[in-house]
Amino acid sequence: MAAGAGDNPPLHPALEPLAFLLGTWRGEGEGGYPTIQSFKYGEEIKLWHSGKPVMAYAQKTWKAASGEPMHAESGYWRPKPDGSIEVVIAQSTGLAEVLKGTFDAEQKRVQLQSSLVGNASKVQAIGRLFEVEGKELKYTVDMATLTHELQPHLRAVLTKI
Ligand code: HEM
Repeated sequence: MAAGAGDNPPLHPALEPLAFLLGTWRGEGEGGYPTIQSFKYGEEIKLWHSGKPVMAYAQKTWKAASGEPMHAESGYWRPKPDGSIEVVIAQSTGLAEVLKGTFDAEQKRVQLQSSLVGNASKVQAIGRLFEVEGKELKYTVDMATLTHELQPHLRAVLTKI
């Protein structure tokens, strides 16, 4: 019978160095920028695979105080054997990103810089850093806008559930 949804395929060897990211992560973050009021949010990130050399990514956030939905995004992570990685992300705001960077399996770190930001009114560039330490996934998002150089917008700490 043909393989289909619901199967639990073996991990593609290309994803082995990034297996530390797989799973569901939940936690809290803090956002800010010189032009806005800082804010706190809750977040869930899922990373999974279907047996292909690509990892699927989905994220959703909510207001820490009320639980009201905030930003969400999803995409695909494509690691290459030379330690480089390419990521595409579609944001709920309509913005589309292509990011390129590197991963380090020993440090459990993925570092990304936008090579393309599409359909954005203000955003010029995005930098993302993901690090796993023990059971914690920590990340930061930096952005540059038409008026401000690359600087922090988000940072969060999530735990594997
Ligand atoms: C504001 C971009 C992720 C919540 C902004 C602004 C930009 C932006 C351009 C306006 C800044 C200004 O006016 O100077 C982005 C990008 C993201 C991202 C590129 C991802 C790479 C998020 C996430 C959340 C969030 C995950 C919520 C958890 C907010 C809030 C504001 C804001 C609350 C201020 C109010 C508003 O303008 O809506 N963001 N954002 N952002 N962002 Fe983000």
